[in-house]
Amino acid sequence: MNIEKLALSIASTLLLIFFSLILYGAYVKNIDLPTCIVNVKPFEKDTIIKISENKYEIHYIARQFSFFPMEIKIPKGSTVDIYITSPDVLHGFHIEGTNVNLMVIPGAITYYRAKFENPGEYRIYCHEYCGLGHQNMMGKIIVQWD
Ligand code: CUA
Repeated sequence: MNIEKLALSIASTLLLIFFSLILYGAYVKNIDLPTCIVNVKPFEKDTIIKISENKYEIHYIARQFSFFPMEIKIPKGSTVDIYITSPDVLHGFHIEGTNVNLMVIPGAITYYRAKFENPGEYRIYCHEYCGLGHQNMMGKIIVQWD
């Protein structure tokens, strides 16, 4: 047997062993890859909850390539509890002109309490590269006079 044939048979045998081990792990040991959860409560729908005058809770969904809800209107002086999650990939959440700067992690919920004292339009940017439409990923919070 020449050396090439020997190398080839060793390589094929090893490949066969590795492949069998993968199948053994998947079917016999039931080892599975972690995946993102997209069909449980906090990942289903974006929500704005008015808790009282000037107090809101927003459940944001960051999804390629937008924030949901895309636009919200609140009165000035509002305190907003932001809960944000992602059903796909890592995103960023920065509200222009504020110190709100969050990471949005798939399968986890990020929380932050923000207070909006000054009326105006606050644009929201994704600051983490998340795919081809990343630069268009925006949202808006409009803070009204009353
Ligand atoms: Cu989302 Cu970049």
